[in-house]
Amino acid sequence: MRNLIFAFTLTAAVIVFSLPSCKHDPFIPLDPDPTTPIDTAMNAGVPCNPDTVYFQNQVLPLLISQCAQAGCHDAASHEEGVVLTNYQQVMSTGKVKAFKPNDSELYEVITETDPDDRMPQSPNAPLTTEQKNLIKKWIEQGAQNNVCNENFGTCDTDNITYANFVSGLLANRCVGCHGGVNPQGGLKLSTYAEVKASAESGKLYGAIARLPGYSAMPKGGTALSPCFVNKMKAWIDAGTPQ
Ligand code: HEC
Repeated sequence: MRNLIFAFTLTAAVIVFSLPSCKHDPFIPLDPDPTTPIDTAMNAGVPCNPDTVYFQNQVLPLLISQCAQAGCHDAASHEEGVVLTNYQQVMSTGKVKAFKPNDSELYEVITETDPDDRMPQSPNAPLTTEQKNLIKKWIEQGAQNNVCNENFGTCDTDNITYANFVSGLLANRCVGCHGGVNPQGGLKLSTYAEVKASAESGKLYGAIARLPGYSAMPKGGTALSPCFVNKMKAWIDAGTPQ
């Protein structure tokens, strides 16, 4: 009898959990990104070349923040069957054609001028020109699954300001979720004042350093590199210079 109840509960659970959370087809199951994680050892891997766009360091964090939020193109929501949480999914469901941004649907939708067809959808703000160009350049360079080591060499933590480092980092990795009309977790990080307030509460550092008791950020993405976490810490310790 016990086994019977157990089997029944199990079957019910399997049915409930396998129901897709929204009706869009086709359902694309989440498979873990097969790429190796970013190597954080000091001089391992490839140093970041400023003329190259790196998928794992720049493109994926941008897509996770701007497109793969809950309710949009994360694995659970997969609106229109599009999931943008790892390389394979971005290439196939984002219809990316290496070297050809204008034949790539991912680039077309972010540059669409009709607000009804544009991504991210209104009322979310369109990507900045810099962000669109980043994706364009990555496709032009062959849309590779490339990665560089942000910790390579020395990590310069001197004279960090909101303008020269913090705002750019947050714009590409956080503001898609923490901006706009409906910021996630009720937290906006799109202006200096908002970021300063979060820094002063201790939560900003707790979240990116993934300290116990804080939600690990960026949510659903790879942790910031130790060099970037140290730069943020140096900025906060210096009194969050603008
Ligand atoms: C995919 C969406 C998403 C991204 C990207 C994201 N966040 Fe969050 N963030 C959330 C949500 C949702 C919460 C609410 C708490 C939770 O659900 O974990 C949150 C909460 C937070 C909190 C409050 C944490 C606490 O424990 O009180 C901070 C601070 C924060 N985020 C900072 C950041 C920073 C900095 C980045 C970029 C490096 C970032 N987030 C990227 C979705 C996101």
